[in-house]
Amino acid sequence: ASTPYLRVTPSMLRRQTGRRGTDAWMALNGKVYNVTPYAKFHPGGVPELMRGAARDGTRLFGEVHPWVNYENMLTACLVGIMVDEPESTT
Ligand code: HEM
Repeated sequence: ASTPYLRVTPSMLRRQTGRRGTDAWMALNGKVYNVTPYAKFHPGGVPELMRGAARDGTRLFGEVHPWVNYENMLTACLVGIMVDEPESTT
């Protein structure tokens, strides 16, 4: 069965901070993950993980632990793929 991908724009990602009742989303290499269910297991702690919340965490992740296989760990947390903001029609 194929995974139904959500197409996530930068403005959608920016709202997913993990605060105000939202889940925390993080983009890594073009894919978007909901990291909230994983947060309590993160060996580096929640605040460190949340440095990459609501944004593209690819560079930060790679600076800290490029050996970590996040794709396997977050398979069940995959939200979708990053896409460009749609052209404004106004
Ligand atoms: C460990 C930060 C995202 C998985 C750590 C540590 C830090 C850190 C500072 C070291 C903890 C220690 O040794 O005391 C961050 C930051 C992230 C991030 C700033 C935001 C981009 C993630 C994600 C995953 C992850 C998305 C996996 C889904 C791990 C694992 C370790 C770790 C498995 C242990 C690595 C080892 O000891 O070899 N993280 N992390 N982290 N983090 Fe992250």
